[in-house]
Amino acid sequence: MSKRIIVTGGAGFIGSNFIFHMLKKYPSYRIICLDKLTYAGNLSTLEPVMNNPNFRFVKLDICDRKGVYALFEEEHPDIVVNFAAESHVDRSIENPEVFLQTNILGTQVMMDACRKYGIKRYHQVSTDEVYGDLPLDRPDLFFTEKTPIHTSSPYSASKASADLLVLAYHRTFGLPVTISRCSNNYGPYHFPEKLIPLMIASCLNDKPLPVYGKGENVRDWLYVEDHCKAIDLIIHNGREGEIYNVGGHNEMRNIDIVKLICKELGKPESLITYVTDRKGHDMRYAIDPTKIHTELGWLPETKFEDGIKKTIKWYLDNREWWEAIISGEYQNYYKRMYIKRDK
Ligand code: NAD
Ligand code: DAU
Repeated sequence: MSKRIIVTGGAGFIGSNFIFHMLKKYPSYRIICLDKLTYAGNLSTLEPVMNNPNFRFVKLDICDRKGVYALFEEEHPDIVVNFAAESHVDRSIENPEVFLQTNILGTQVMMDACRKYGIKRYHQVSTDEVYGDLPLDRPDLFFTEKTPIHTSSPYSASKASADLLVLAYHRTFGLPVTISRCSNNYGPYHFPEKLIPLMIASCLNDKPLPVYGKGENVRDWLYVEDHCKAIDLIIHNGREGEIYNVGGHNEMRNIDIVKLICKELGKPESLITYVTDRKGHDMRYAIDPTKIHTELGWLPETKFEDGIKKTIKWYLDNREWWEAIISGEYQNYYKRMYIKRDK
């Protein structure tokens, strides 16, 4: 059966990959992408689907209540998937305010629209960062859906606040919601301020590779397509009011990822520069994905060895995409973040 889905934040990394996945898998669905096009949104990313008659792009802020209501009146969506967010931890440490605006108040506006116009499902794309971190010396510990919320950064606090609001709208107003909490994604169209694309781009330009602290922090990496498939399953078959953790048991230390990228690109490890640590830096993330596996049959399909090769190839083949980004306003961010950060 045909469905109408509003995807917010679809000009960003995961949202765009989700749109590609959905348009390919469900040719009868109508996908409406709502995106403010912040520094992280890139319309050129959506170029391959712009002429698809089942796709519509609307430049809009999720905090713009009037605009959002008008779009709902026009499109009568069945499902909303909310990816739109300020997503970079370092930027949230620099300036938390916009994180609270978009990630919390924007979520409220989207859910109010869902209440007002009726919806079959509101899905909130959340993160494993809401659980805080795990110690390095307890490899037996994992985040489950029952792990208490314990946030570290303004970013994770804003995402956790949004999650609480989503659950409150379910209990108080009966809004049919689901939440996914995924681990670190990597893959095509990843904005080059994040670890993996930053290191690939810097390696290719023979620039220093800034590793925070000792590089011992552990992240649990998942290929972006696997995350998109998980959300696809949740919005179709997930139970209302439920949270689903998404992750593929692929924990790696930052320093090992950076060394691997150097090796794959034939660049010397002497490019690695240890810089001042991130404030409040989470040590280890590790997802227990048992629930989504047993309830919905989800399993990751792309092994890290293959995913990282595919990702590096994508950055080699699509230089113009990331070069346009790093030559623009991003230069100012890079200078603020990394110049004088050297230890
Ligand atoms: P991203 O920064 O690449 O993209 C965010 C998108 O949201 C951009 O297109 C931006 O223009 C848009 N946006 C920002 N503010 C907006 C607003 N006020 N109104 C409308 N659009 C707005 O982010 P991403 O990495 O693709 O993450 C997407 C979602 O997934 C986020 O909610 C994030 O918290 C979550 N998440 C990300 C990861 C990860 O590893 N990247 C992992 C788990 C969860
Ligand atoms: O876990 C899910 C989260 O993953 C998402 O919710 C966030 O939106 C997403 O940005 C990501 O957060 P991280 O903080 O884990 O990702 P980031 O790529 O910024 O950093 C990954 C690790 O690499 C982290 O330990 C910090 C480190 N790092 C990062 C950068 C940008 C460096 O050592 N050097 C760097 O220059």
